[in-house]
Amino acid sequence: MIAAVRPLIEAAEITFGYRRGQPVLVGWSGSVARGEIVAIVGKSGSGKSTLLYVLGTLVRPWSGTLRIGDHDVSHLGDRGRSDVRAAAIGFVFQDALLDPRRSILDNVVEGAVYRGDDRAAAVARARTLLERYGVDVESSRRATDLSGGQAQRIALARALLGSPPIVLADEPTGNLDRTNATLVETALFEHARSGAAIVVATHDEALAARCDRTFRLS
Ligand SMILES: Nc1ncnc2c1ncn2[C@@H]1O[C@H](COP(=O)(O)OP(=O)(O)O)[C@@H](O)[C@H]1O
Ligand SMILES: [Mg+2]
Repeated sequence: MIAAVRPLIEAAEITFGYRRGQPVLVGWSGSVARGEIVAIVGKSGSGKSTLLYVLGTLVRPWSGTLRIGDHDVSHLGDRGRSDVRAAAIGFVFQDALLDPRRSILDNVVEGAVYRGDDRAAAVARARTLLERYGVDVESSRRATDLSGGQAQRIALARALLGSPPIVLADEPTGNLDRTNATLVETALFEHARSGAAIVVATHDEALAARCDRTFRLS
């Protein structure tokens, strides 16, 4: 028997907020399939980042159901959710959020090492991705004094290192010039076309228009 193909991300009737009685998302439902790239759009403060935090299991919804693949993750505790993130989700934020005390290479392989992947294999793949994304600074040096573009290329390598089936990106090109923005967008689209589910919160109408679908928040 062939199992029904479920969306990779499936959210139903999600309500979440930061303060009691002040929900940011109310009864939000949506799903993202494998191979699909979906934009979240809406004015500032409409909850785009919050929705990414919910879909990424960084926060737990007050009510509603979130499924990642075959698993209902809505009720998992912190440890269970961090395992889900390590196994399945790559994040790209507007700022690269690199650890300046560590080397570029250590920043990129951090998630893989946390997961228990073989370090040498992770390092080899990290070098390949850094080269692919045109990071032309020595990867053994500390992740400081980088341009915004270089830092985001490094963050992209970190997010895609383990080929996660889900990538969540929050205004990933918001601080970048056109050249760097195009590189980041191209990498996200390629990753979607290789079978991943991608969700990107963006102000960029042109980017949203090129995505397969749009979630509009108000
Ligand atoms: N960590 C937080 N604590 C309290 N309120 C927050 C927090 N993050 C966001 N908010 C509030 O949630 C609402 C949605 O914010 P956000 O998800 O950042 O929107 P967007 O990304 O669309 O600009 C806003 O009213 C914002 O002030
Ligand atoms: Mg935001």
